[in-house]
Amino acid sequence: MERFYVTKGDIVRAKTQAIVNAANTSLLGGGGVDGAIHRAAGPELLLECETLGGCKTGEAKLTGGYKLKAQYVIHTPGPIWRGGNWGEEELLANCYKNCLQLARQHEITTIAFPSISTGVYRFPVELAASIAVREIVSFLENDQQMEQVLMVCFDDTTYQAYEAERKKYIKA
Ligand code: APR
Repeated sequence: MERFYVTKGDIVRAKTQAIVNAANTSLLGGGGVDGAIHRAAGPELLLECETLGGCKTGEAKLTGGYKLKAQYVIHTPGPIWRGGNWGEEELLANCYKNCLQLARQHEITTIAFPSISTGVYRFPVELAASIAVREIVSFLENDQQMEQVLMVCFDDTTYQAYEAERKKYIKA
């Protein structure tokens, strides 16, 4: 998929119109990528998040980007891995589906994702990558408005997992 790329880096530096935050259901900040995005965006992001009344796992809510390069932040709480028999796979798929739908509704044409749920929430990274890439590719097959989807990986292991999945979809 020429509109989908996997890169390694810090998502707060992404030049896309929107970046996705691997949030928690309170939307009141945290560690990991959530902490990095709030630090880079500044305190106004939290002020706006406080008006949203939280967000259910697998759902997505949009805010401004404030001091970030990105114009928007789309916040989505991923599932906490509990062994795989608690609907975690479907909830993770919903994170990607709902973020991309919300982007489409707001006519956002470039978006960057982190590897949702594979840090503090301990979702196995290979399984997460297969779910994420499957959802991104199937969205792009049915959407012509989106111009670029980036997966921004923070470390090599994560990068290898997502890039290996992306290569499975490259048409021979
Ligand atoms: N840019 C890109 N990716 C990052 C960054 C960053 N600046 N910082 C961390 N990551 C990566 C992690 O290495 C991991 O691969 O994001 C992925 C998701 O990890 P977490 O940020 O821990 O998110 P998650 O596993 O979804 O857990 C969410 O953690 O930070 C809290 O408030 C958050 O409670 C929520 C929970």
